[in-house]
Amino acid sequence: MTQAPVNVTVTGAAGQIGYALLFRIASGQLLGQDVPVKLRLLEIPQAVKAAEGTAMELDDGAFPLLAGIDIFDDPKQAFEGTNIALLVGARPRSKGMERGDLLEANGGIFKPQGEAINAGAASDIKVLVVGNPANTNALIAQSHAPDVPADRFTAMTRLDHNRALAQLSKKLGVSVTEIKKLAIWGNHSATQYPSVQHAEVAGQSVDVDQAWLESDFIPTVAKRGAAIIEARGLSSAASAASAAIDHVYTWVNGTADGDWTSAAVVSDGSYGVPEGIISSFPVTAAGGEYKIVQGLEIDEFSRARIDASVAELVEERDTVQKLGLI
Ligand code: NAD
Ligand code: LMR
Repeated sequence: MTQAPVNVTVTGAAGQIGYALLFRIASGQLLGQDVPVKLRLLEIPQAVKAAEGTAMELDDGAFPLLAGIDIFDDPKQAFEGTNIALLVGARPRSKGMERGDLLEANGGIFKPQGEAINAGAASDIKVLVVGNPANTNALIAQSHAPDVPADRFTAMTRLDHNRALAQLSKKLGVSVTEIKKLAIWGNHSATQYPSVQHAEVAGQSVDVDQAWLESDFIPTVAKRGAAIIEARGLSSAASAASAAIDHVYTWVNGTADGDWTSAAVVSDGSYGVPEGIISSFPVTAAGGEYKIVQGLEIDEFSRARIDASVAELVEERDTVQKLGLI
């Protein structure tokens, strides 16, 4: 091994996303094939035994890059010295439940986790929140970590981005790798706006009719999470784990020239998105930092969709503010 192991904390380690995620981290897909990792798993006390079972299986994988596994039920210990934190543990939405209903239930989890990150994480900490409502959970954690640069807190919309790539590739009959500059704007919820306004295939803008966009593409991508729950009886897990891997890998290793991806990051006021909320934007990554793509022209249709999703995020922020969670 060429370098010291990177500490990766995963919360909700015994859950279904955890089960799909941990083996991919251990196999080197999160950070790269030359980067050893130490896993720090956080669970609630009742699920520690199940996490121990997963750790036994991780041992049994004999992963060359896996330098150790520790299991905790205390956030302070789990985030001590950690470099990458994947905040997955939360209560998943079940059939018929709206994401907004989860705000109060999950808000309480992310405050102590933000405090623990502030108290003990490594100075290069990068945080990805997956647990829903992801954007606002990230805001809660970030607001309790005043000593950590705010831009280290992100929430996951890479799954939505990947869903949009998959739908558009089917429609156009091209590979997902040929599509550039798709973007997810706003909240990881049914109000999100998957935009093809700047999308390109082979350097040419994408030509799809507006009716397909409005009645098929946008609702399919935006409501995909609910469709998976309806079909599986459980929320998406392997695809969510895969997107979490993509999000961190890109954050650390960068985006390709001439392309971007999507991530929910702290708004600096770009595109009229109120400063401080954690909203999805088209982003590039370089030098271990995500940056919002600047200077894009936003057409009228896109403007209205972005504003609607951002309005939902502002409402969520106001709700958690009233609950004293930020
Ligand atoms: P799950 O119920 O299978 O697992 C959640 C795990 O979190 C459980 O093991 C539970 O014990 C644990 N947990 C609960 N509170 C905790 C705490 N305070 N600290 C540590 N662990 C805790 O759920 P899942 O299917 O793995 O989904 C996890 C979350 O990810 C859900 O909120 C789900 O809605 C969300 N999700 C987000 C996306 C996205 O794109 N952002 C996609 C899919 C799912
Ligand atoms: C998803 O997009 O698959 C999940 O966020 C759905 C959910 O509400 O758990």
